[in-house]
Amino acid sequence: MTQQNPDQAKVSQADPAPHTTPDHTLILTGKPVSGLQHHGGRLGEAVKKYGRPRDQWLDLSTGINPQTWPVPAVPIECWQRLPENDDGLEQAAETYYGCKTLLPVAGSQAAIQLLPKLRQPSRVAIIDPGYNEHRAAWASNGHQVVDVPANRIESIIKEIDVLVVINPNNPGAERFSSTELLRWHAQLSKRGGWLVVDEAFIDSTPDLSIASIPARNGLIVLRSIGKFFGLAGIRCGFVISEPTILARFEQLLGPWTLSGPSRYICRQALADSDWQAQMRGELSRQSLRLKNILEQNLGLEARGTPLFQCVQTSKAGEYHQQLAQQGILTRLFPDPQLLRFGLPGSEDQWQRLESVLCCIRKPAVTSYSS
Ligand SMILES: Cc1ncc(COP(=O)(O)O)c(C=O)c1O
Repeated sequence: MTQQNPDQAKVSQADPAPHTTPDHTLILTGKPVSGLQHHGGRLGEAVKKYGRPRDQWLDLSTGINPQTWPVPAVPIECWQRLPENDDGLEQAAETYYGCKTLLPVAGSQAAIQLLPKLRQPSRVAIIDPGYNEHRAAWASNGHQVVDVPANRIESIIKEIDVLVVINPNNPGAERFSSTELLRWHAQLSKRGGWLVVDEAFIDSTPDLSIASIPARNGLIVLRSIGKFFGLAGIRCGFVISEPTILARFEQLLGPWTLSGPSRYICRQALADSDWQAQMRGELSRQSLRLKNILEQNLGLEARGTPLFQCVQTSKAGEYHQQLAQQGILTRLFPDPQLLRFGLPGSEDQWQRLESVLCCIRKPAVTSYSS
């Protein structure tokens, strides 16, 4: 793990009960664990709140690539016929991920919601801050959830059954090496535990992925087509794991989890290695540009992945508000206070972001390292 977070680990569940470990590192959290979670991309809400028409917003509130993979026309039979599994989607995905056993799902979100149903009530540590749907899914299925900052994972691994990490993390951008992940997996699987690695943001940095590691008991990797390919609306993702886990998923999901048009488009996007290579270079250049703009204008350290940059400051809420008043939507995370910026999609949008950022009022701020 490459970045530090000073927070303690915290425990929550649908009906929280007090719990501490012998070294008192685990405490109850009051974070919500049920109902709908907050996400980026809720432009409709911003339109109502700030009274600015939809087409006048620059929405940087997600980490979705604004340069979408060029979607072709879909043949009529994809709409007419029931989807069939011999259309080459699984093979294209196996080649792209370098693995031998996977299952397509309607977005990695579908897998996130189902995973907790495949285990008896367990002690589950989830990276925090992270994509909040993980915690919501485990806690609402009767598991005891521990919110764990990236730099505390090592110290709690002996006390848990399941570890859920996001690599690279969203929003904190912490990265985990395969050596570190496989060491945790070995510790967990020895006692029937699982390591779940959510690789939704890894496509731009494939060397970091453990998707191609031969399938083993208790190792579950989740992938998304939404972020890197800019196809969040297509609702496609993959679970990469050993055949027994995949069979249980398949049984719960039933047939036709992906529509025919989704299967057709995803298969081609996964096979388009020229676009992928060119886009990896493009995204890392743009992410660096975003980092520089944020650091120069806000005077704060920015950190991120090729698809987003984040600043941590006690004034995140004020900046979020000021930007929204100028029609720029960002994603605010409350604890710790982070402001996440996705990539602008055109030169005009870059210019607009920079001109708003350079005029932002800068109250006394607490920098990331403080
Ligand atoms: C870390 C992470 N994992 C998974 C998802 C779910 O993505 P999808 O269901 O589109 O594959 C998201 C969505 O924002 C995310 O941020």
